[in-house]
Amino acid sequence: MPNALFSPLELRGLTLNNRIAVSSMCQYVAENGSAVDWHIMHLGQFSMGAAGLVMTEATAVSAVGRITPKCLGLYSDENEAALKRVIDFCRKYGVTPMGIQLAHAGRKGSTQIPLDGGKSLRADENPWTTPAPSAIPFGLGWHVPQALSREGLAAIRAEFVAAAERAVRIGFDLAELHSAHGYLLHQFLSPLSNQRSDEYGGKLENRMRFPLEVFEAVRAAWPDDKPLGIRISATDWIEGGWTVEESVVFAGELKSLGCDFIDVSSGALSPLQKIPLGPGYQVPFSARIRKQAGMATWTVGMITKARQAEEIIAGGKADMVSLARGMMFDPRWAWHAAEELGVDTEYSRMYARCAPGQWPEVFPWRDK
Ligand SMILES: Cc1cc2nc3c(=O)[nH]c(=O)nc-3n(C[C@H](O)[C@H](O)[C@H](O)COP(=O)(O)O)c2cc1C
Repeated sequence: MPNALFSPLELRGLTLNNRIAVSSMCQYVAENGSAVDWHIMHLGQFSMGAAGLVMTEATAVSAVGRITPKCLGLYSDENEAALKRVIDFCRKYGVTPMGIQLAHAGRKGSTQIPLDGGKSLRADENPWTTPAPSAIPFGLGWHVPQALSREGLAAIRAEFVAAAERAVRIGFDLAELHSAHGYLLHQFLSPLSNQRSDEYGGKLENRMRFPLEVFEAVRAAWPDDKPLGIRISATDWIEGGWTVEESVVFAGELKSLGCDFIDVSSGALSPLQKIPLGPGYQVPFSARIRKQAGMATWTVGMITKARQAEEIIAGGKADMVSLARGMMFDPRWAWHAAEELGVDTEYSRMYARCAPGQWPEVFPWRDK
């Protein structure tokens, strides 16, 4: 039986060696948006392989677009130089293509880092005014955001483009826009956070307008041969919120704008959500969008086992699996999965000696 998880995936001009991605994971250690040495450690370890792709954490397109003061950003020359240093390192020693997640937190910005409580920044913690579609806070005790004007929308669109241009200069292989987890683009999609009465609010077509405008503008700035996708929350998990049916329509619109994949997550728009967590709980959303919109999808969330991942890809439920916590727990997850599934995969040259095929005394079932 050919193996599905370790089969290559073509996205425009990029061929990924396998269907495993290291998912975006905020680290909350950046300085004024700039990557630090920790990012070399964090992304460097994953770039050694054998996942097919490594994604950066949410990378803010402006200082205001950060979730916390310690979030990574790509809005200044210093940010660009700092992130380039990390990605150059990963390219020099690693073997894995690198993707960037471009983000704007909107009303979920100006918060403390999770280790400090994750609440809205207090007056003595240099809070900033957060923008959003409507002046509706995320929850009780959160900053009340400022509803964006037309000029504000145009400025944020331009910030996404400028950050994408910086990402091109750094040499990223792939990019995705963060339109999930209750951040700015998702705030436009959901009728719970978007109660505008202009052409950016109300019916589905209007709620999708700003995220689609941003996507179109970034696509025009992003090289033709490089894939561009988007992470969405397929549902808000709340009555009256964004739905999977709407996600299918959104995916179709994105496809017509040259979107190469939908990275399907869910939730985090409101603290009122009720999520039935369990292994692979978001896989059905990916399967549905993949089938109904006819698009490549990634699935993420509580995927931890090699055979579980293999079954998802072989069963046509997603084109990629993306792992976050499982990768922090075991940065060599993909090497171990390959071994469990009986597949050979790529190793960085310096670590080639640890590949099971290289020491049959310990792995006698492997041919040398
Ligand atoms: C420490 C941490 C940081 C995260 N940061 C981001 C992020 O920057 N962008 C994003 O889209 N998701 C982020 N997530 C969500 C993960 O990418 C992933 O969707 C989620 O953890 C479910 O996958 P898992 O069960 O494999 O951990 C984060 C998750 C963790 C645990």
